[in-house]
Amino acid sequence: MAGTFMSAQVRRIATLAAHFRVPSVAATGERRLQAFATMANTSVFENVQQAPEDPILGVTVAYNKDPSPSKLNLGVGAYRTEEGKPLVLDVVKRAEQQLVAEKSRNKEYQAITGNQQFNKLSARLILGPDSPAIAKNCVATVQALSGTGALRIGAEFLAAHYAKPQIFLPMPTWGNHNKIFPLGGVSQKPYRYYDPKTRGLDYEGMLEDLKAAPDGAVILLHACAHNPTGVDPTEEQWEGIRKVIRSKNQLPFFDCAYQGFASGSLDKDAYAVRSFVADGGECLISQSFAKNMGLYGERVGALNIVCRSAPVASRVDSQLKLVIRPMYSSPPVHGAAIAAAILEDGNLFKNWTVELKGMADRIISMRHQLYDALQERGTPGDWDHVLKQIGMFTFTGLNKSQVEFMTREYHIYMTSDGRISMAGLSSRTVPHLADAMHAAVVGAKSKV
Ligand SMILES: Cc1ncc(COP(=O)(O)O)c(C=O)c1O
Repeated sequence: MAGTFMSAQVRRIATLAAHFRVPSVAATGERRLQAFATMANTSVFENVQQAPEDPILGVTVAYNKDPSPSKLNLGVGAYRTEEGKPLVLDVVKRAEQQLVAEKSRNKEYQAITGNQQFNKLSARLILGPDSPAIAKNCVATVQALSGTGALRIGAEFLAAHYAKPQIFLPMPTWGNHNKIFPLGGVSQKPYRYYDPKTRGLDYEGMLEDLKAAPDGAVILLHACAHNPTGVDPTEEQWEGIRKVIRSKNQLPFFDCAYQGFASGSLDKDAYAVRSFVADGGECLISQSFAKNMGLYGERVGALNIVCRSAPVASRVDSQLKLVIRPMYSSPPVHGAAIAAAILEDGNLFKNWTVELKGMADRIISMRHQLYDALQERGTPGDWDHVLKQIGMFTFTGLNKSQVEFMTREYHIYMTSDGRISMAGLSSRTVPHLADAMHAAVVGAKSKV
């Protein structure tokens, strides 16, 4: 056991060294530090290399520097109104007013695992009000620093307590997955997911890769609205995926960052997760309330670990505390209190679902407007995928040089893989985007 822990630590240090671009772990030892100290007027951090910008957040940095009045940021996955402004949901404002009015509220530390009422309601939201797993106390839920934090806690827990800490990630996937898991001590491998030829799911390839993955491997699945491709399996395909994963005793880890945001229905977007939990097997589920409640900067999320029995779930919960305590001690109060207020109050909840559907519908309407605008311009290529893909993003199929062209000539910012956030578009900006896409496709003379 001690040996396993040691080798996990060594693995972690090597991964950290690679991540932070430290040329050699040994070279940063005592000898090097002494040499630094003797160099007068030289920072001990002199050798720190300039790190590259984050591929997604770096897009916003570049956008902010651009003085053009027609600039458009379609890089970051954050909802904008028709006027291009960030949106604070009405229910969030009302919940906040309620909280302020509650005289008994204070700013004491929360428990290590956070707001217990929020945890209960969060698990209910994803697993359903009648979930037998919840009724039998088989679910360990902890409040987390949004979806990212939940994934990281999950990774660290698996590294310490799961016999096969190797995770298979869809290709492509949200860029941060590739960092979170190795840094959390879980090695990663890809499985086929997206087929650029059909701009749809490579279902056969995915099943082949899952079958070839070791028994017991952890499989990361986007619960809905796959990021960056916007391509989700059909219900029938989910069934096929579930059967393969269960037949190999693999452990599904659902990343659920867009519940309600994909289809406008909280239940529909929970379909995949619920079908896996219904078979009685175990899984992990990370949840984010960044998009569906617009609580981005409040960092509200949860990690659920669905276990076979209540005693196991209780022991898992106790170990999650040991993961969280040295990481950030306990999570923040405010955001989870807002989410809990919305989830527990029938009225607020109902109003939330209306506002959520409004956001999802606006995104779907952007898909139609962009598609129509490309048709009107006679833009070469097949653009059906703009309509077919789901959720916040369209994986346009534009290549890196076309993306660069659109940024240079039209001041449109997006990730270099051609992913655009439909939530950042409006009726006013669609023509500008369509002009840019048309020029990029025609000018670059490449087929999209
Ligand atoms: C697939 C996926 N997972 C997780 C997250 C986590 O987001 P946050 O940490 O803001 O909840 C995101 C955000 O873009 C995402 O797209």
